[in-house]
Amino acid sequence: MSPAPAPAATIVIFGGSGDLARRKLVPALFELHRQGLLAPETAIVGFARSVGSDEAWRDDLDAALDEHGRGGADAGARRSFAARLHAVRGDLRSDASYGELKSRLEAIEAERGLPGNRLYYLAIPPSGIGDAARRLGAAGLVHPVEGDGPFSRLVVEKPFGHDLASAHALNEAVHASFRERQVFRIDHYLGKETTQNILVFRLGNGIFEPLWNRRYVDHVQITVAETIGVEGRGKFFEEAGIFRDVVQNHLLQLLCLVAMEPPVAFEANVVRDEKVKVLRSVRPPSPQEVLRDTVRGQYAPGAIAGRAVAGYREEPDVAAASTRETYAAWKLQIENWRWAGVPFYLRAGKRLPKRVTEIAITFKTPPIALFRHAGCAVGEPNVLVLRIQPDEGIALRIGAKRPGPTMRVETVKMDFRYAEQFGEATPDAYERLLLDALNGDGTLFARRDEVEAAWELVEGVLDVWAESPPPDLPNYEAGTWGPEAATELLARDGRRWRRP
Ligand code: BG6
Repeated sequence: MSPAPAPAATIVIFGGSGDLARRKLVPALFELHRQGLLAPETAIVGFARSVGSDEAWRDDLDAALDEHGRGGADAGARRSFAARLHAVRGDLRSDASYGELKSRLEAIEAERGLPGNRLYYLAIPPSGIGDAARRLGAAGLVHPVEGDGPFSRLVVEKPFGHDLASAHALNEAVHASFRERQVFRIDHYLGKETTQNILVFRLGNGIFEPLWNRRYVDHVQITVAETIGVEGRGKFFEEAGIFRDVVQNHLLQLLCLVAMEPPVAFEANVVRDEKVKVLRSVRPPSPQEVLRDTVRGQYAPGAIAGRAVAGYREEPDVAAASTRETYAAWKLQIENWRWAGVPFYLRAGKRLPKRVTEIAITFKTPPIALFRHAGCAVGEPNVLVLRIQPDEGIALRIGAKRPGPTMRVETVKMDFRYAEQFGEATPDAYERLLLDALNGDGTLFARRDEVEAAWELVEGVLDVWAESPPPDLPNYEAGTWGPEAATELLARDGRRWRRP
């Protein structure tokens, strides 16, 4: 079944010629256009100081599609896409520019027969988000939600603040002009196909959910490993670190989807209610527990795939004695009936040997080791691995008898790979998220209370860390699996990290 085309709307991209627009948004919108998922009247308007004429913006985005698009599109599709594009040059911090934007939008809408539905996409630095939302409201660019009138929606990108107080302030600023149901906070991990499959896999099949609890699960590992370093974002990273950049959002979102209770319906608020409950069930660690159950790392020079790479402290815009973490591991406990006593081990790191995001659920071993006799190896536990990327798929590790006259149990793998089964290239997360925002479906977006609950949790760790900078940084070589202390974190519990 192909998805429903989105209702006709004007998509206004703030920061229309910035990196995010060129790399992600425009290629995603082009794909939706190519697949017939945008209504014929839909217009895409770039609003920024740096956009020029309609023509110049169209040329710029055509080049962006050459560089970042999925490719394989015919010239006709490019031309009809370009006809949707309009540029409004303006200063995002000037009320006069918003007045001008309003009249241009009304003219474009009249010309194209658009009903006045608007999707404002703030692809701008976080410091400008609250201000832009306020100015949109003040300029009369936001329709009220009541009644059957056209919709006005706001899409915002992470980071939503850098701690609980700033996230709260940002949400307040946004709420001055928009109701929560008009706000779509992007966490692009939620748009990934395999992330969406976590719930389908768990709840669309009868056999897994009965095992998904403390009775059968020994522990869970969630890994977000990257081979890249900070990629020219030294300044941002010095302020954020990986805990804010990846753990607070992407990793905790994955945790929620794995650990949440089955929602009573697959509806935005019902699903998000359950996710918030997970975050609230994580036991806030005491300062001693933070120091015991978390690990910080920073990469030293090393090699990735045989190529020498610099250490974090040598990256541009990074302090020579920086104590910012590029690796973090965290053992946490979810205190509810389903998970009490089951440790969740999370880790995220830059400059690790392999790019891989996965969730590994290790089950308890059988109560009796029936095949231990006669030198037969004791069975390894069953491990179910949900591979989010790359090589998307699901694998189950099970014990099997090796053919032969003696009883030898060997671990084998049952493997499902998306690419083998479904062939087609996986759509980019932004395609799905933009379509959902146009359709008003907030299921794959972070709600205000979710974001704030995640910050509250993360802040408990960050506060303790701020008081006790680690003395041993840098503590792992680029191209290795992180600091020794991370290995010890699991070894203490008689476990080890998976080598994906
Ligand atoms: C972003 C972080 O949100 O996610 C980056 O800011 C990180 O630091 C990226 O590299 C990872 O996303 P993906 O889709 O490549 O796993």
